[in-house]
Amino acid sequence: MNRPHELPYAEKHRPQLHFSPARNWMNDPNGMVYYDGTYHLFYQYNPADKVWNDMHWGHATSSDLIHWYEQPIALHSEPEGLGYIFSGCALVDWRNSSGLGQDGRPPLIAIFTHSSDSGVQVQSIAYSNDAGETWAMYDNNPVIPNHEITHFRDPKVFWNEESAHWIMVLAADKVVKFYRSKNLIDWSFFYDFGEKFSVNDGVWECPDLFVLDVTGTSEKKWVLLVSLNPGGPNGGSATRYFVGHFDGEGFYADHTDVRWLDYGPDNYAGVTWSDVLQNSNRRILLGWMSNWQYANQVPTDPWRGAMTLPRELSLIPTDLGLLLAAKPIPEIELLYQGAPIIHERLLLNEPISFPQQGELPELFELVVALESPALAGRKLRLRLFNDADEQLIFDIDLAANEVRMDRERASFGLDEDCGFFTKLNAPIIASEAGQYSIKLIKDVSSLELFTGEGLGIFSALYFVENQLNKLEIMPFDCEEVALENITIQPLSSIWRHCES
Ligand code: FRU
Repeated sequence: MNRPHELPYAEKHRPQLHFSPARNWMNDPNGMVYYDGTYHLFYQYNPADKVWNDMHWGHATSSDLIHWYEQPIALHSEPEGLGYIFSGCALVDWRNSSGLGQDGRPPLIAIFTHSSDSGVQVQSIAYSNDAGETWAMYDNNPVIPNHEITHFRDPKVFWNEESAHWIMVLAADKVVKFYRSKNLIDWSFFYDFGEKFSVNDGVWECPDLFVLDVTGTSEKKWVLLVSLNPGGPNGGSATRYFVGHFDGEGFYADHTDVRWLDYGPDNYAGVTWSDVLQNSNRRILLGWMSNWQYANQVPTDPWRGAMTLPRELSLIPTDLGLLLAAKPIPEIELLYQGAPIIHERLLLNEPISFPQQGELPELFELVVALESPALAGRKLRLRLFNDADEQLIFDIDLAANEVRMDRERASFGLDEDCGFFTKLNAPIIASEAGQYSIKLIKDVSSLELFTGEGLGIFSALYFVENQLNKLEIMPFDCEEVALENITIQPLSSIWRHCES
């Protein structure tokens, strides 16, 4: 069901490596499910305007998680009925437990929040018998009514073999509620998680619960994601996670400290794909690359909102406990264009421009590996800039164990009081003995930074009038920095493959 793209996807600020809708407003990723060779991505969508309102589920599909095709709207709001279509999930009902399948084929089931004009939030379902192309509302919605709780939304459901039930996690004010069902229609509540873990004023949203292998061991652990707004480490909205144990009756966190999925300001409401595990052991996350502080103001037209790159999750044992790591999916290599520019063994004692000859490509993946013996106390600055005095600065401070980002001069079109101008920072968490490397993926209006192991992640939007076509790397507050190597891999646009 590939549909031709609306060409050319070349407007000012238009992401070239990330999905964004052709037109109008988009926020959370919803209903991510893999079925029959196709990755489905649904999303919070306002088809009539570039600001948040009148939520529908937009729809896009991909066969490789990189190249996306926008599809017709999947779920329409019902302002006169149960309301707008808020966030939720989709899954394959392999055994047709819901009875909504036809002709021996498993139906796809979407489970989402209906939010009415008067603010009543209930859970509903819809189903598809043509592999996700068209959807019908279930006749007896809602499947979970609600009269008491104001914020009661964003169901994520998975089949739990051990307890032989579908399990739903649902955000309710500042807790995650657990429900179970045999048929996706009749649900019973059984557990609340979180009361003693809400450490700030934010409302909890968009939970997800899944099991992961612990890297390098035969152990498995459960991870609960919760997005909260506000209260993020750099202001506004952000996603935290808990590592622990789920036994079919409850979820028990192993730690009380607050852990963030992404320390950058622009990764929210991320959840993982359903039904990928049928074929592989991958747990793939996608987030909305914005922040509620300024999402309605970002200077893009005729659309507003983009997703992060899909990321593969893993759990890594560290001195700080088991931490959730994320790396860009390896499929990004499909976008590698031409030979990488590589410099090996560099001792920097003054600013050096990259590439040393020729132009900096607009889209690239940059990998910088610092030399291990020279680590302690080293401070490295990356400066992306142009002749119009616009710039982005990334400081990697291995003395303070911190990454800092300054995007003040890359905030074109934004109000000074919207939270975009704040200096951003994140801890450096590296479990590699002595080795420290970063990968930075640069799109037209975003940067995503990953450490070598994926333990420190930082996603941030930026907006400039002119392309940032120069890169300087230099030591700061220290005399020299030794680099093992530096690689710039040019990337091609995801829209370039489109048929006319
Ligand atoms: C998260 C969120 C969800 C809600 C949706 C509404 O960004 O607030 O809790 O379902 O967006 O668009």
